[in-house]
Amino acid sequence: MTHSAATPASPLRAVRSGPLKGTLRVPGDKSISHRALILGGMSVGETRITGLLEGDDVLRTAAAIAALGATVDRSGTGAWTVHGRGVGGLAEPEELLDLGNSGTGARLLMGAVATHPFTTFFTGDRSLCRRPMGRIAKPLEEMGARFVSRSGQRLPLAVQGTATPVPIRYRLPVASAQVKSAVLLAGLNTAGDTIVIEPEPTRDHTENMLRAFGATVDVMDGKDGRTVRLIGQPELTGQIVPVPADPSSAAFFAVAAAIVPGSDLTLTDVGINHLRAGLFETLRDMGVAIEMLNLRDLAGEPVADIRIRAGVLRGIEVPPERAPRMIDEYPVLAIAAAAAEGRTVMRGLQELRVKESDRLAAVARGLKATGIQVEELPDGLIIQGTGGALPGGGQIATESDHRIAMSFLIMGMAAKTAVTVDDDTMIATSFPGFADLARGAGADLGKPR
Ligand code: S3P
Repeated sequence: MTHSAATPASPLRAVRSGPLKGTLRVPGDKSISHRALILGGMSVGETRITGLLEGDDVLRTAAAIAALGATVDRSGTGAWTVHGRGVGGLAEPEELLDLGNSGTGARLLMGAVATHPFTTFFTGDRSLCRRPMGRIAKPLEEMGARFVSRSGQRLPLAVQGTATPVPIRYRLPVASAQVKSAVLLAGLNTAGDTIVIEPEPTRDHTENMLRAFGATVDVMDGKDGRTVRLIGQPELTGQIVPVPADPSSAAFFAVAAAIVPGSDLTLTDVGINHLRAGLFETLRDMGVAIEMLNLRDLAGEPVADIRIRAGVLRGIEVPPERAPRMIDEYPVLAIAAAAAEGRTVMRGLQELRVKESDRLAAVARGLKATGIQVEELPDGLIIQGTGGALPGGGQIATESDHRIAMSFLIMGMAAKTAVTVDDDTMIATSFPGFADLARGAGADLGKPR
């Protein structure tokens, strides 16, 4: 399904539920799914992907990589094949690339096309057209590409790729895996070494997958941060990519199991890459019983089955340096904080203001509407927990943000009065089947009366 301005809003209501029980698998990792399609398209030969996330964001990337000349086929649920064009072999797309709601798809593809000698036009939905693209344009222009964009360096925009790219050494001004990945993807078709320095390490799926496809990527930790070096113009060869379950989607069920009394839930095949696992550590710090079972490796990414049992949560100060390792999980962590005893302080989160919505503002508004005391800081939130029973009630303005919608539906499962979100259609951008999976575990989700 696609989510667009033309899709009518569809409210959804979560009612206090009994214990959540059982074993479930959330859909495939969004970050890894985008990267598998893009690297598949930039490799020689066949890439076979299983467990691909079939949410709108990733489907947009699949369509875009096909428009850039790769052959992309779906053979069954989550089973996709890409026949790539090889490094430097992407072709000028005839149409505009519309990445819908997906910042990751848009930004990574801008990197991929920046070092190809043609022009690509990008657009997205209302939310994506508000998000900053200057952070991508700056390094890619240093490599020789040109960006022509709307005011504020926002979409729609055109990338004029360069035929004579220069490798750069680029220090990220913000902790962003998307910017890092865009530069590395641009570095693929650039002779010489492309170097990215990150002040705080961010998710490293691009580096891991580049290595698996045959590139040389070195990583060095120093006092200045982490230095990632890619040797340009490698021969990339198609691979088999099994996609783990998305830890950012698992996060919603982990918090639900932690706060709905009596719950005992196991989430299978979840990616637990250290640079994505910050939420599970934070929940443990808050006193939640979390077990990592059956630890194993899935095509270069660590995975586990995660068992979460309900308990008493205590408020904490979340270490700000943990932010890049759980950046998408703060909205649902805020729900755990609302149910905890005492105060939870979250800082270092200015990046949350430029996600699918201004997530600090959206979370603060939602918490207030549901009877929780919260202070909104320029870079964070201070939440006064209730110590268990959540009041609930109120209608949540999701701002068309999937993670805001899912977070407050989780709250409703543990609240005295039902919580209604104004729209659930955009949940399918990252988590198709969310409501059915939740119902299967015992949640009561339905249309508001
Ligand atoms: C992503 C990186 C993060 C994250 C997004 C996915 C990725 O964004 O919020 O959902 O796949 O690289 P930033 O890199 O902009 O922080």
